[in-house]
Amino acid sequence: MAVTLAGMKRIAILGGGRMGEALLMGLLNGGYEASAISIAEQHLERCKEIEKNAPGVTVGADASRIVAGADLVIVAVKPNDVASVLEGARDSISTSACILSIAAGITIADLESLVPGRAVIRAMPNTPALVGRGATAIVLSVLATDEDAEMAEQVLGYVGIVERVTEDLIDAVTGLSGSGPAYIFLVIEALVDAGIQNGLPRELVERLVEQTVAGSIELLMASSEGPIELRAQVTSPGGTTAEGIRALEEHGLRAAITDAVTKAKLRSIELGRRD
Ligand SMILES: NC(=O)c1ccc[n+]([C@@H]2O[C@H](COP(=O)([O-])OP(=O)(O)OC[C@H]3O[C@@H](n4cnc5c(N)ncnc54)[C@H](OP(=O)(O)O)[C@@H]3O)[C@@H](O)[C@H]2O)c1
Repeated sequence: MAVTLAGMKRIAILGGGRMGEALLMGLLNGGYEASAISIAEQHLERCKEIEKNAPGVTVGADASRIVAGADLVIVAVKPNDVASVLEGARDSISTSACILSIAAGITIADLESLVPGRAVIRAMPNTPALVGRGATAIVLSVLATDEDAEMAEQVLGYVGIVERVTEDLIDAVTGLSGSGPAYIFLVIEALVDAGIQNGLPRELVERLVEQTVAGSIELLMASSEGPIELRAQVTSPGGTTAEGIRALEEHGLRAAITDAVTKAKLRSIELGRRD
């Protein structure tokens, strides 16, 4: 059932790409009132698609019209476009509005200088948000009130979990959960290759691997036990899994994963430097 408009926060989304549309659809699927949402997208074809997928939502190319009257302005354009879209729309953004940016590498200080005097929130989501299973970390500016934080958490909560962090942690979050889906996909790819190399037909391998990965995650989430206990339960001494785990340890799986997260974090720091 749709939530009634009375008291509902008005949300403007800038950028109707993958992430912007994922947030929009998450809100609508969660029962948010379509007429309380507007979205700016500069490609006419995308606008038409969004209008079709999200009836009742205001869609337009002009960001400054879309932000007028919004309580929350979500910035979902590419990092390089953040300055131009906010500079263009700034004068139409209410002084009491909160700006929530999901653009990678755009800092709280960057946002504050683009929209002076407004509360800003920086978020780092990840792509499982596209299916409502995202993991997002948010950073609050000094001007962001509890109400602003709760509004951002509620909105991002429609597409997954939300955790508050301080800005000094955001590069590590980027290296962990921002880039994390790609690490998992690489592991899945390797498992598929390994199954084929061991004589199994590809289609069978793909079905077995997908269900094994999805099932393991569901088991972990449903269980009161952690990954160490769950792994121990399938690793009997001298058994097949123990042999497999030994091979992974010998090849340095842990070190490789630690290095991946660290290198991605360092790259995030490097990309964020603009001097
Ligand atoms: N995708 C991810 O995995 C992920 C994860 C974490 C964070 N993010 C962040 O999420 C943001 C959006 O990513 P995305 O993958 O959704 O990008 P995207 O697909 O490029 O979507 C952005 C859309 O906004 C449009 N746009 C740009 N400037 C505009 C303006 N002034 N007015 C109206 N529309 C405008 C873009 O048009 P053009 O194509 O012409 O530019 C594009 O259609 C990025 O900043 C990214 O860092 C993404």
